[in-house]
This record gives sequence, structure tokens and C-alpha cells, in this order.
Amino acid sequence: MRTAEARLEEAVGLAQAIDLEVAEAQVLRVERPTPASFLGPGQVERLKGLVEEREIGLAVVDAALTPVQQRNLERAWSCKVIDRTGLILEIFGARARTREGQLQVERAALSYQRSRLVRSWTHLERQRGGFGFLGGPGESQLEIDRRLIAERIERIDADLKRVQWTRHEQRKGRAQPAVALVGYTNAGKSTLFNRLTDAGVFAKDLLFATLDPTMRRAKLPSGREIVLSDTVGFISDLPTQLVAAFRATLEEVLEADLILHVRDVAHPDSEAQREDVLAVLSELGVDPEEPDRLVEVLNKVDLLPEEARAKLEAQASREPALVAISAVTGEGLDRLQARLEELLGA
Ligand code: GTP
Repeated sequence: MRTAEARLEEAVGLAQAIDLEVAEAQVLRVERPTPASFLGPGQVERLKGLVEEREIGLAVVDAALTPVQQRNLERAWSCKVIDRTGLILEIFGARARTREGQLQVERAALSYQRSRLVRSWTHLERQRGGFGFLGGPGESQLEIDRRLIAERIERIDADLKRVQWTRHEQRKGRAQPAVALVGYTNAGKSTLFNRLTDAGVFAKDLLFATLDPTMRRAKLPSGREIVLSDTVGFISDLPTQLVAAFRATLEEVLEADLILHVRDVAHPDSEAQREDVLAVLSELGVDPEEPDRLVEVLNKVDLLPEEARAKLEAQASREPALVAISAVTGEGLDRLQARLEELLGA
């Protein structure tokens, strides 16, 4: 499984994905999280010095913080503090391009906020007690917040339903089989998408460069056309609110005739990433053991040392559900296309 260093590196990558300048990154040992501040008092104190000395404006704790812990850390360090979910929400917010993407992110943020309101109920109530004038008689600020959030979520859901319906109708009207790309963030989905479609989609070494599904027609060597969709990148500990929020986008995956699971086989956590993606897929209702529908694309073989690469290619030649490629050099692409033709019964 993942090492602490790899997790730290990923968290740094996530922060950089929204242009944060990372001044310092550290692995901290937390045996048992303290209810008040998650970290131990000594750790909080030590980091306070660091925050002051380096004039740090934002601290990201790559874990799930309760609202109380978040606030206490903010007080102790006099800087803004966000946790992993907060960071991922920020990225999604910055990346959403289509109206659907924006709606989904807003919904996720609201439901995150709502869950925090519930968790810190007594605390917030005490803090805000007495501001009942905004609502009906006796209504606390917390209840108002909850009601406003619930109303907004309801409206978003209605909007999303409309968007989804339109999309569903468009899908019904399409003659070409649908092929969806899924994969851990940075696995190379957009690069492969471009390779297969010559489209020039934004592909960059950035986590979550892609948020909204991009769809384009592509031609296989036989001349057969497919509709290819590139979806949101997956990530470990994707908060459940986010999985739920991206259901609309991921529906493209659910209804696809073929799913290409793009993997970065050169990444040290490749196996753990694979498990994460399969877990999200099954959560969505896709059976990961469906070899006629799911193709595992072993991408980035160009980065592997000769021996590892030969081993992987031998394995792929034995197992029809595996195809080894490099989306960058283009090698193996012919095999992938041939496999697609075969599965689509061209
Ligand atoms: P998200 O949008 O985060 O989900 O990422 P993605 O899966 O769409 O990844 P993307 O295609 O943006 O590629 C991420 C990085 O990996 C880019 O820097 C690509 O150039 C690089 N990359 C993709 N495929 C390969 C490959 O086969 N070999 C090598 N060496 N690099 C690759």
C-alpha cells in the first residue's frame, strides 16, 4: 500500500494543481488524533513557529479534520487551514468548465458543508445561539443554515436532472458505440484521448486537469467510428459526497459499451491506484470482473526499465483484458485499437 512519502507527494501535487506555492511539506506521525486539534500539542506548537517564520498563509492537513479541529488549528497558527476534502473541492471548483461541472462541484461543497454542520452541531449552536431573528420564532442560525443549504441542493438537483436528461437523450440518438476512459488522476487519460482522436485536449502534468467529461468521435483503423469520453480522474479517499456529486459525469461511464481503465504502470503506487479505481467503479455499479466490457490499459510502459516492461508485455499478451501501451510514444496503440474492434465486433 501507499507509503507516507508517496501520500505526501500526492498531496503536494494536489496543492500545486491549484497554483499554491508549497513552502514546506512534512510527514507527521499521529498515533491517536487529538479531538481538539488532530495533531498533538507539541506538533501544533512546533508548526506554529514554522508558520510564523515562513509567513505561511494556508496549511493543508492531508486527512479528515472535524470543523472544531480545523478552527482550533486556524486559531493556533493564525492562518487558513483546509483538509483533504477541502483541497479536492478547491481543485474541482477551479477546474469545472461546463455548467454541469460547476453544479456538481457546488453540490459537493454544500453537502460537505452540511455534513460539517451536523457534526459540529452542539458547538456551532453554542457559538451562534441567540441569532434566531433571521428565521421563524426559535429557529437557530444552524437550522437556517441547514435549511438554506438543503434548498440550494434541491435546486441544483433539479438543474442537474435536466442536464442529465438532455445528455441521456443525446446518447440515445447516437449510432456509434460509446467508449469511456477512466483512471486515477494523472494516469494519462487525456493523452490517450488525444492520441485516439487527434483532438488536442488539455493534457498536462497536473492532477485533475480534466473534470468535465469531454466527448469526441474517433475512428478505428477499420473505419468504424466510436464516441470516446474522457472523465474525471479518480483519487484515493475521494470523499463520498464527491463520488455522489460526480454521478452525473460518471453516468457516461455507466452507460458506455466499453470502459478503458487507463493505468500509470510506472507509478510506485500503481496497484493501490488500481484498487481505488475499481472500488469507485463498483460503487457506481460497474462490475470490475467484466472482461468483455472493461479493458485495462497499462499506460506509460516507456517509463519502465527494460526488464519490468518485458514482463508486463508478456503478461498482457496472455491476458486479453490487458493492453500495454504508451500514450506518449504511441506504441501499443495498434493493439489497443485492434482489441477495441474485436470487442465491438467490428
Ligand atoms: P487527470 O486529468 O488528472 O485525470 O489526468 P489524466 O489521466 O487525463 O492524465 P494526462 O493525460 O493529463 O497525463 C498526465 C501526465 O502523464 C502528462 O504529463 C502526460 O504527458 C503524461 N503521460 C501520459 N501518458 C504517458 C505515457 O505513456 N508515457 C509517459 N512517459 N508519460 C505519459
